[in-house]
Order: sequence, then C-alpha cells, then structure tokens
Amino acid sequence: MAASEAGKKMAGDVPRLDAGVAHIARVYDYWLGGKDNFAVDRAAGDEALEAFPGLISSVRANRAFLARTVRYLAKEQGIRQFLDIGTGIPASNNTHEVAQSVTPDARVVYVDNDPMVLAHARALLNGGEQGATAYLDADLRDVSKILRVAADTLDFTKPVAVMLIAVLHLISESDDPAAVIATLMAAVPPGSTLAISHVPNDMHMGAMSDMSERLNRLLSQPSTYRSRAQVTGFFDGLELVDPGVVPIQQWRPDTPEEAEAVAAMWGGVAVKR
Ligand SMILES: C[S@@+](CC[C@H](N)C(=O)[O-])C[C@H]1O[C@@H](n2cnc3c(N)ncnc32)[C@H](O)[C@@H]1O
Repeated sequence: MAASEAGKKMAGDVPRLDAGVAHIARVYDYWLGGKDNFAVDRAAGDEALEAFPGLISSVRANRAFLARTVRYLAKEQGIRQFLDIGTGIPASNNTHEVAQSVTPDARVVYVDNDPMVLAHARALLNGGEQGATAYLDADLRDVSKILRVAADTLDFTKPVAVMLIAVLHLISESDDPAAVIATLMAAVPPGSTLAISHVPNDMHMGAMSDMSERLNRLLSQPSTYRSRAQVTGFFDGLELVDPGVVPIQQWRPDTPEEAEAVAAMWGGVAVKR
C-alpha cells in the first residue's frame, strides 16, 4: 500500500460518533447487511423499508452499478485514477478493489464526511502493491479542499474518474450541486469522467415521496430526490456514454437478472472531451 499524506492524516483523529441520531452512512450500511450501525439507524432504515420494500434490492443494485462503472472506466476508458466522493462504510467491491483488479496501478482517493466512515478508513487504504489509495475526511461542498489534498495522490494533469455514487441527493439545491460538479470537472483534464447515481422523484413515485418524508424526519442530513431530467442536467457539457441516464440496473448490466433487479436510482457516466 502506498498511503498518501491524505491517508496518514486521519490516524488518531477520529471524531466522536453520534449514536443518538440516524446517519445516512450507517443506515445505508444497515440496508446492505453491515454491522456498523446503531439502533437509531436500524429504526430509520426500517421506516424507509416500510415505505419502499424494494430498498434492499435497490441498494444492492447501486453497489453493483458502482462496480460495473469502475470496471467499465478502467477497462474501456483506460482510467487509472479515481476520486470517489461519498464513499460510505466499506462494503463489498469498494472502488479500489474493482479498479486495482483491472489495473493494479490504479490510484484512488476516497472522500466522506461521516465519522463512521473515517473510523473504517484503514480498510479503504488497503491498496495493492502498485496502486495507491488515500482517504480524505472532507465535505463534497468543500471542493477546493478535496482538490488540494487529493493532489497528493492523484495527478490532475491525467484523466480522473469522478465518482458521485448515491451522494448528490444529500446536497440541497441551496448548496448548488451543479456548481459543485462544474468545479470538480473543471479541475480534471479531457478524458476524465463523471459517474453519478441518484435517488429519483420520478419513479416508484408514491413510495419515494413516502420514503423521503420519513428519512427527512429521521436522518441528520436532509435529502433531495431528483428527476431524470435534473440528473441528466448534472452531466451538462460532458458526453454521456451509452445508454445515457437510465435506471441503474439497466446501465450495462452483466446479466439479464441484474437488468431486472428492483431498484430506484438514476445512473449514468459521461466523458469530458
Ligand atoms: C448512501 S451512501 C453511498 C455510499 C457509496 N457511494 C455507495 O453508493 O455505495 C452516501 C455517503 O455519502 C456521504 N456523504 C453525505 N453527504 C456528504 C457530503 N456533503 N460530503 C461528503 N460525503 C457525504 C455519507 O456519509 C455516506 O457515506
């Protein structure tokens, strides 16, 4: 492992975990069958499941989408550097594992702002011999910090895959997610890519609005679900690769079963030309 300065900085500086209010990183871990969650997270997770029973299938489909996009970017687009923002608590097929299985020298910077993810950062730093991984405790809205520290590990003169997987719905309109994305994509050269998955407000509509009401009441962080047109707008100025912005399970599925999974997320990948 070649941990960068960003990775080393996190040691010994783990903020206190708040077990009194549900956090999306831990609730998501619960939905994925993980153990890094508290009673308050499981209660919130169960309330959301009541609203949308397809949620477990949906979060699994999202992890599968993440793995397929990383594999596609490494294999088909020749990407060797990944900036994965809103990483989540380590689960199966983390970005560095998939990327380094294709390209052993892939370099990955993970970014998240949740203390539980920070507490598990070492698991994310376990890169291969030739590659490098780093973890940065930062907020997606603080793009200048992300770019400054990620530059310890990534070469911003070479293509970078910006991964915003199931995180943009946690950025409110008042925080201008389109501007956040534009700043990130302005910092990377042509050949770089943007991958997004996003919770919808225009599929499974009754269930999504019920789930949104429940989670916005129970979670520490508000969510904004968005339409296909809004998610497509996040790719403005970039060239969407086939099949465009689609339900995640239909984005280059490996098997017919994968394509038919129950899921409620829009997903897409685009290239900066
Ligand atoms: C639903 S999880 C998705 C995890 C992973 N990307 C995946 O799709 O499997 C969202 C993650 O984004 C993180 N997050 C939420 N808001 C964030 C922000 N403003 N900056 C950085 N990370 C954020 C949460 O802590 C959580 O780990």
